[in-house]
Amino acid sequence: MEIPNSVEKILLDEETIAARVCELANDISADYADDDGLILVGVLKGAFIFMADLARRLNVSHHVDFIALSSYNRGTANAGAVRLIMDTRTSVTGQHVLVVEDIVDTGYTLHYLLRTFHARKPASLRSCVLLSKPDRRQIEVPVDYLGFEIPDVWVVGYGLDCADRFRTLPYIGALRREVYE
Ligand code: IMP
Repeated sequence: MEIPNSVEKILLDEETIAARVCELANDISADYADDDGLILVGVLKGAFIFMADLARRLNVSHHVDFIALSSYNRGTANAGAVRLIMDTRTSVTGQHVLVVEDIVDTGYTLHYLLRTFHARKPASLRSCVLLSKPDRRQIEVPVDYLGFEIPDVWVVGYGLDCADRFRTLPYIGALRREVYE
């Protein structure tokens, strides 16, 4: 596949991602083997490909649902504020909730999600995140299942975008700084 000019380099290729998703699915399947009522809640849009691959690798019964958020732009007075724009269709009360997120950057989004779901009294609440940029963290958030740690660069592909572009690249690539700065 041709690499767009905006992509500086491939950080994680398809095989590397697939192998790690498989490991995460095995860990999750083992941990929830004795539990009924697992719901994967994917965070749109960035987690849609990760969620689809992860869900199909699980060996435990589960439902899938989605939530959509919008975050205010970085550098504004509202930076860090997150708004719910689409909620799950299923009630999560008494269910085992696993939030599936594409990436943790400052941590505000995942913090908001965990706080929101905690208030709904699930039987348990954990997070599964494909990528983490530890150098950018502003608020500590628990990540129970993590795919990869990456440096502070803007990444695209495998569901992740830049202004809604590049989501369907099969790999995760670092954008050239001049594209997003
Ligand atoms: P946080 O609230 O700062 O942790 O940001 C989380 C959200 O920012 C993610 O769900 C992504 O939508 C977006 N995001 C952060 N870094 C990147 C990136 O490198 N590529 C694409 N989206 C990103």
